[in-house]
Amino acid sequence: MTHSRALPWPPAPIATERLILRASEARDRAAVIELNSSPEVGTYLGGPRPRAELDRTVPEVPGRRPGFFVVERDGSAIGTIQLDPQDRERPKHRLEAGETELGYLFLPATWGRGYAGEACAAALDWFARALPAEPVVLYTQTANIRSMRLAARLGFTEVERFEAYGAEQWFGVLAPVRSRGSRLTGRAAPSS
Ligand SMILES: CC(C)(COP(=O)(O)OP(=O)(O)OC[C@H]1O[C@@H](n2cnc3c(N)ncnc32)[C@H](O)[C@@H]1OP(=O)(O)O)[C@@H](O)C(=O)NCCC(=O)NCCS
Repeated sequence: MTHSRALPWPPAPIATERLILRASEARDRAAVIELNSSPEVGTYLGGPRPRAELDRTVPEVPGRRPGFFVVERDGSAIGTIQLDPQDRERPKHRLEAGETELGYLFLPATWGRGYAGEACAAALDWFARALPAEPVVLYTQTANIRSMRLAARLGFTEVERFEAYGAEQWFGVLAPVRSRGSRLTGRAAPSS
């Protein structure tokens, strides 16, 4: 699957108040393996993947594709954000062509400090400038309270709930951006 138009990639690193978002590099491999093998991160994502399998299969530079951001805090990778073309094999698919799906994974030690919100807001602002008309959607389990709260703070609104993979799923779409100010910090985004 591809985006409706090409994303400008890799982007110049995006600096927020506390974080940097950038394309992935070889030095992020350990953090990507940590994220995907963490039982806490995997709780609502079908469970963690075995570390030995990840050690074998994660490429030297992980996540090397348009829309895959590594989020860095003080020089260390703390999470990833994905803006991927929506998977049409999903059990529910209600919008028309050209949707992009937001995903986010952050290391548990960094939860509860607003980093995911700050980083996702910056990624969404970047995406809105790159592909202005393209809708952004989000799936999450309703039991994933942290993710549900984050989705609401970012401006996603519910389209529907449905049962899949043995759990209630939430499907939301991002409300149109009214201004180009940053979503959570209220800081004005630089004009381009
Ligand atoms: C979903 C996930 C990214 C949410 O992480 P998070 O840290 O709770 O999210 P936020 O960045 O929005 O942080 C909000 C919390 O930080 C607190 N916070 C502290 N300082 C803050 C600040 N300066 N600014 C904003 N919030 C701040 C908020 O009060 C809030 O706390 P609360 O959870 O007690 O209400 C994280 O739980 C995760 O990686 N989960 C595993 C992956 C996953 O399930 N992904 C979903 C499917 S895509």
